Amino acid sequence: MTRISIYLFLCLTFFMLHAKGNSAKVYSPDRNVEVELKLSEEGNVFYKVLYKENVIINDSRLGFKLKKYGDCSTGLEIIDSEERSFSGKWNPVWGEVSEIENNYNELKVDLFQKTNNIKYVIVFRVYNDGLGFRYEFPEQETLNDFTIMDELTQFALAGDHEAWWIPADEDSYEYHYQHTKVSEINSDLTEYEPRADRLIVDKKAVNTPVTMKTKDGIYLSLHEAGLTDYADMTLAVKDNDVLEAELVPWADGSKVKARTPFNSPWRTIQIAEHAGDLITSYLIINLNEPNKLKDVSWIKPMTYIGIWWEMHINKSSWKLESYEGSWSGSDDLPHGATTENAKKYIDFAAANNIGGVLIEGWNTGWEFWGADTVGFFDFITPYRDFDIHEVVRYAKEKGVEIIGHHETAGDVENYEKHLNAAFKFYNELGIHAVKTGYAGPIRTPGEHHHGQYMVRHYQKVVEIAAKYQITVDAHEPIKPTGVRRTYPNFMTREGVRGMEYNAWSDPNLPSHTTTLPFTRMLGGPIDYTPGIFDITIDSKDGYAVNSTIANQLALMVVIFSPLQMAADLPENYDHNPALQFIREVPTTWDDTKVLNGEIGEFITIARKKGDSWFIGSITNESARDLDVNLDFLDADKNYKAEIYSDAEGADYKTNPEVIDISKKEVNNSTLLKMKLAPGGGQAIVIKPIVDK
Ligand code: NOJ
Ligand code: CA
Repeated sequence: MTRISIYLFLCLTFFMLHAKGNSAKVYSPDRNVEVELKLSEEGNVFYKVLYKENVIINDSRLGFKLKKYGDCSTGLEIIDSEERSFSGKWNPVWGEVSEIENNYNELKVDLFQKTNNIKYVIVFRVYNDGLGFRYEFPEQETLNDFTIMDELTQFALAGDHEAWWIPADEDSYEYHYQHTKVSEINSDLTEYEPRADRLIVDKKAVNTPVTMKTKDGIYLSLHEAGLTDYADMTLAVKDNDVLEAELVPWADGSKVKARTPFNSPWRTIQIAEHAGDLITSYLIINLNEPNKLKDVSWIKPMTYIGIWWEMHINKSSWKLESYEGSWSGSDDLPHGATTENAKKYIDFAAANNIGGVLIEGWNTGWEFWGADTVGFFDFITPYRDFDIHEVVRYAKEKGVEIIGHHETAGDVENYEKHLNAAFKFYNELGIHAVKTGYAGPIRTPGEHHHGQYMVRHYQKVVEIAAKYQITVDAHEPIKPTGVRRTYPNFMTREGVRGMEYNAWSDPNLPSHTTTLPFTRMLGGPIDYTPGIFDITIDSKDGYAVNSTIANQLALMVVIFSPLQMAADLPENYDHNPALQFIREVPTTWDDTKVLNGEIGEFITIARKKGDSWFIGSITNESARDLDVNLDFLDADKNYKAEIYSDAEGADYKTNPEVIDISKKEVNNSTLLKMKLAPGGGQAIVIKPIVDK
């Protein structure tokens, strides 16, 4: 699993195309995707995309407005262009599959703007499953330090498609997905309320990935790849079905501060004939740079539990002391992160093949979380009822990893001051995984979670964490764009309306988790924190997790996360035979197949580890019968399937906790008949018995 990425085979071909005229074309290796770049008479640059000869993206403008230079998208000349092909395979340190093919044709077009005497390059990489393009600013006399005031990139859609979207909030991706026509996109449809940690400036704009379906049944998803030193790209709906880049600004209103040589992130367009093919497209991760970490032996994917849900359901609090205005739990609640409680979780993990225990609220300062003050966390001083050395010693003795926690409360300047010391502290304790958090507004005046200021910060954290051999699970993060390829210690992140909302807000409906695989998950792993068994949240009146237990188990397969939380409390798992699935389910895979699925309705994913397969199937609010063909199993083997299914009468609203566990022999000609309850699901473990 922690193999160093190696190129198995690589083939590179160069063609020099000395720009003739004012256009250039490039095709995907299978020639289904065609991209054309054109210059108008005024020297404006456009691109167009066809799939199987049908227009997917109509002529769309490219270019920038730069401070000092103004509009750099007009009066352009093509001064050179170059085409090359690349064909290779690589092995991720961990992933949904153990090997990824990376085959594309590339077109690079050099542009020159005479009036400003500046050059930039547009690069297209065209794959069978879509394309990416980016801007490159080479070193040049006139352009050294520069500021992007606006990116003018457009996506002129070939129709008013159906879209699944969240609004272009500059601080948060924690929204229910909306399903409307592109022309109907408007944040008034969402739960947005202006508050210190939310900001929607353009109501008719979305955050990416935004996924669409054309009237011809083609699925498209727009996103970006390699966002490490730039602003988050949101997409604004303009007239005539045009989506236009709108970058999240710095406090001073500029968008991106850069120095040549400089590359933008890739703008990505995934194209698929089946919704599920978006999920098994590895275009976004392919567009990122190869792994930069030499030693990856300390990177450990695992299932984890934690002192976490109990705070969200008001059983205990993060804080030990009290302070007016804090969010960290009422004064009547006991402190969650005590030495004794941590040992209880460690014992449970050790007894149930669970790799890690996350501990939140062990360090001083939590009483100020949410209050109007800064500088209160030093990330290393334990509360007096928590002996971190003893907890780590105990965990080691039991073979369990401790997952550390850095809640910053959005106080990024304070965090940066303590960053090295905070990671060094965990490293010296032998802790190799840390969850970070940025709950609340960013305390640096005028900055937002998704601006370049924060993108740089998140990147810095992951790089410093790597220096201390620590993997990261970021909450309130920047959206995932495949950076996990380059920094495989960036394991997972939130950036989603996760399980926690069910404990204290409007709940997530079953259709939320049937939408996420086709939207947010296209960017990368999600720390959704599934696996709740006490669906009715007995300790908290009026709140419930809207799903059945079988659905919760299935989510552990459907939602990919190399650090996967089984979020419920030990006492809610104990004595429930369905725990067996959590004991067995891996978190990274050799292979992944999407067996069926429609956005927001249902999905079935099969993932392979060694010789075994794990299947997760979930449905939205509607009950559903699905036929699932096991023809992907080896023909020469018989298998035993352990099936965790919704029991008779199960229903996410009225009867969510009834589950049937059965066993069955299967082989590659088996057709499984799945019966999913409303809000239900099914989880299956398939292991070979003996060769036929
Ligand atoms: C919000 C995070 O999403 C949640 O997981 C965490 O428990 C709290 N912040 C406290 O850090
Ligand atoms: Ca959160």
